[in-house]
Formats: sequence, structure tokens, C-alpha cells
Amino acid sequence: MTTTPRTLTLALLLAALLGISGCAYRYYLGMHGPSIGSSPRIHDASVREDAQCLECHGPAGSGDAPQTTHPHFKGCLKCHSDRQ
Ligand code: HEC
Ligand code: HEC
Repeated sequence: MTTTPRTLTLALLLAALLGISGCAYRYYLGMHGPSIGSSPRIHDASVREDAQCLECHGPAGSGDAPQTTHPHFKGCLKCHSDRQ
């Protein structure tokens, strides 16, 4: 493929779009969140499913659990566990 001005414009446009909508998705660039292992009394081994996490951390929220900025993510434990 040759780099015509047209493809260049397209690439720049794409980069700009990703920059705007990329806020939440920066997590997918290999960033890991805080581990639930740091509060084992709340997060025992029976908590495995996203739905369980969201009961406390979802938009509806409950008690003193910090609300997640990314309730639509799948596989919370991929990023929030160091035990797997
Ligand atoms: C791709 C990795 C990734 C996934 C998947 C993910 N998170 Fe996160 N999460 C992060 C990162 C990185 C942070 C820290 C940055 C921030 O607070 O915005 C974070 C922060 C949080 C926090 C805030 C912690 C605090 O101390 O305030 C909560 C709560 C949380 N995530 C819950 C969840 C839940 C629930 C799910 C599943 C629905 C989930 N996360 C899925 C990466 C992820
Ligand atoms: C019974 C409610 C409850 C459930 C279920 C729950 N959490 Fe939490 N979570 C909490 C509370 C409360 C805190 C605050 C703990 C603290 O401040 O020590 C917390 C803290 C966190 C933090 C911040 C880490 C830290 O210690 O600073 C993350 C990340 C998190 N939870 C992710 C998850 C994920 C992922 C799941 C599902 C596997 C989950 N939680 C399930 C109540 C819950």
C-alpha cells in the first residue's frame, strides 16, 4: 500500500477518533487495575462472576464500595485479581 495523502488523512482521522473515545479503553492497553486481593475480607474466593462484582460496584452501587467507571467491561477478574 502506498501512503497517499488520502490514506494519511484517514489515518489521522482514525487516530483522532480513538483519542476522543479512548478514555475508558486505555484499560485495554495492558493496564491492570487495583487487585481485589488487597481487601480479601470483602472479596473472598466465592466472588468470581462479573454480575457479582456489579452488585456492589455497578451504577446502582451499594454501601461503601467504590463505583466502577467501566461497568460494561467483561471479565473483571482479568484485571482485578492477582490470584486467577
Ligand atoms: C481491562 C482491565 C479492566 C477490566 C476488565 C476491569 N477493570 Fe476495573 N479498573 C481497571 C483499572 C486500570 C482501574 C484503575 C483506574 C481507575 O480507577 O479508573 C480500575 C478501577 C476499578 C475500580 C475503582 C477502584 C478504586 O479504588 O476506586 C473498580 C471498583 C473497578 N475497577 C471495578 C471493576 C469491575 C466491577 C469490573 C467488571 C465489570 C472491572 N473493574 C473490569 C481495569 C479494569
Ligand atoms: C459484597 C460487595 C462486593 C462485591 C461482591 C465485590 N466488591 Fe469490590 N469492593 C467492595 C468494597 C466495600 C470495597 C472497598 C474496600 C476497601 O475500601 O477496603 C471494594 C473494593 C474493590 C476494589 C478496589 C481495590 C482496593 O482494595 O482498593 C476493586 C478493584 C474491586 N473492589 C473490584 C471488585 C471485583 C472485580 C469484584 C468481583 C470479582 C468485586 N469487587 C466484588 C465490595 C464488593
